[in-house]
Amino acid sequence: MQIFIDSASVGEIVKWLEMGVIDGVTTNPTIMFEDGVYDIEAGVRTISALVDPLPTCVEVTTDEPDDMVVQARLFASWAPNVVIKVPHITTDGVPCYGIIRELETEGIKVNATAAMSLGQVILAAKAGATYISLFAGRVSDEGGNAPEVIRMAVEWLGRWRFKSKVIVGSIRSVGDVLNAVMAGAHIVTIPPPFLNKMADHKYSRETVKQFLSDAEKALRLMQQAMRTG
Ligand code: E4P
Repeated sequence: MQIFIDSASVGEIVKWLEMGVIDGVTTNPTIMFEDGVYDIEAGVRTISALVDPLPTCVEVTTDEPDDMVVQARLFASWAPNVVIKVPHITTDGVPCYGIIRELETEGIKVNATAAMSLGQVILAAKAGATYISLFAGRVSDEGGNAPEVIRMAVEWLGRWRFKSKVIVGSIRSVGDVLNAVMAGAHIVTIPPPFLNKMADHKYSRETVKQFLSDAEKALRLMQQAMRTG
């Protein structure tokens, strides 16, 4: 199983990359905006160079299918490890699977993004998407059973030997991460605050504090004994 970081913050990406914890990066226009990355090209060039050869997912910023293809080719030309996020459907309800197929046929890797259902996963896999992003938090927002959708998607992809990997995104808690992992997600993309929360535990800190304090006491006793002895 892999972990991606759901962030455009260079500081966070470097921090978690250097710890050997992450296998790739996902972004979207909202994340870029919130992380202060207004120049997409500069941001993507920086991030993709940092994580190379790991994948950097960047999303098209147009709702027009023909423009998506043009934009995808441009974004993909910035670095060999750029993966293009293409939505399953436009805001007008036009399915984007033809775009996914065209790009993958050209050798451009696609992350079919903002999936909320097994049906969308099936169609994106048929179209040849390298990654399919299932938005667990948003599925739950609508009252859906996100772990069940993840489990069914991963099982179906495996049964028919599709190459597509499910990236579970839209993580809202550490519980979401663990549910995705236990449901068999190939990849979970985690925002930095939840990576920190996963590492942290009050009792771990207290335990380490106790060990350090006892080590200090032992050292003091030993030094005392050496002085008197
Ligand atoms: C994943 O690739 C997306 O960037 C992200 O997880 C979307 O999550 P949201 O529901 O917080 O917008």
